[in-house]
Amino acid sequence: MSNIVLQANQLTKTYTSAQRNLTVIDSVSFECEEGNSLSIIGPSGSGKTTLLGLCAGLDVPTHGTISLMGFKLNNMNEDDRAYIRNQYVGFVFQNFQLLSTLTALENVMVPLELRGEKNVSAKAKELLSRVGLADRFHHYPTQLSGGEQQRVAMARAFITDPKILFADEPTGNLDDENAQRIVELLFGLNKEQKTTLVLVTHNLELAQKTQRILRMKGGKLVEELPGSIPLLVSQ
Ligand SMILES: Nc1ncnc2c1ncn2[C@@H]1O[C@H](COP(=O)(O)OP(=O)(O)OP(=O)(O)O)[C@@H](O)[C@H]1O
Ligand SMILES: [Mg+2]
Repeated sequence: MSNIVLQANQLTKTYTSAQRNLTVIDSVSFECEEGNSLSIIGPSGSGKTTLLGLCAGLDVPTHGTISLMGFKLNNMNEDDRAYIRNQYVGFVFQNFQLLSTLTALENVMVPLELRGEKNVSAKAKELLSRVGLADRFHHYPTQLSGGEQQRVAMARAFITDPKILFADEPTGNLDDENAQRIVELLFGLNKEQKTTLVLVTHNLELAQKTQRILRMKGGKLVEELPGSIPLLVSQ
C-alpha cells in the first residue's frame, strides 16, 4: 500500500490587510506519496511560497487540514510543529534565511545542533563541499553571493537527512553548472534515501524532472498531465 507523507485537505489561506481580504490559496487538496517528487509551478504571486509554508508547518491555514508524516499539524502548537520540522523536514527558503551572525559552516550545523548532536562539523563540511563551497566554510552570509547563499541553504536543508524536502526556487539564482549540481543532489537524495521532493520552481526544465507537476492558478491547484508542458528554450 502506498505511504502518504503529505496530505493537504481543502486548504485555504486568506490574508487580511487594509480591511481587504485576499484569498491566496483557495480550497486546495492534494497528497504526496513517500519517495515521490513533485513541482509546483505558476505565475509570480499565485501562492506557491504560501502553499509550501503551509505544507511544511511554517504557517497555518485559515481553513483546511494538513497531515505531514502522519502528524496532523492543525492540532499542534508552534513548538510541536518545529519539532516535527526538525525531525522530518528540510526547507530551502526562496530568500535563503541564513543566520547572519553565523558562518556558512555554522549555519549548516544548526539543525543537527538543535537536535543536541555533537561533532557535526564533518558532515556539514562534506555537504558544503558537495554543493561546491569547500573554500567558503568560514564566510558569513554577507560575504557570499546570492547563489552561494542558496547553496548553503541547500546544504543546511540536507544535513538532517530529511524524509521530505521542500525547496522554493532551488535553482533560481544559479548558473547552469551550479544548477546542475543542485539538481544532482536533489534527485540523488530522492533515489538514495527515498527523500520526498516538493519543489516550487519557475524552471520548467527542472519541473519536468519531477514525477508530477501541479500548477497554481487563481488560488487553485491543477495537476498537469505528463508531457503537457512545452519546454521553454533555455537561455
Ligand atoms: N503576509 C502577507 N500578507 C498579505 N499578503 C501576503 C502575505 N504574504 C503573501 N501575500 C500575498 O500572497 C500572494 C502570494 O504570495 P506568494 O509569496 O505565495 O507567491 P508566489 O507564487 O510564491 O510568487 P513568486 O513566484 O513571486 O515567489 C501575493 O499576492 C502576496 O502579495
Ligand atoms: Mg514565491
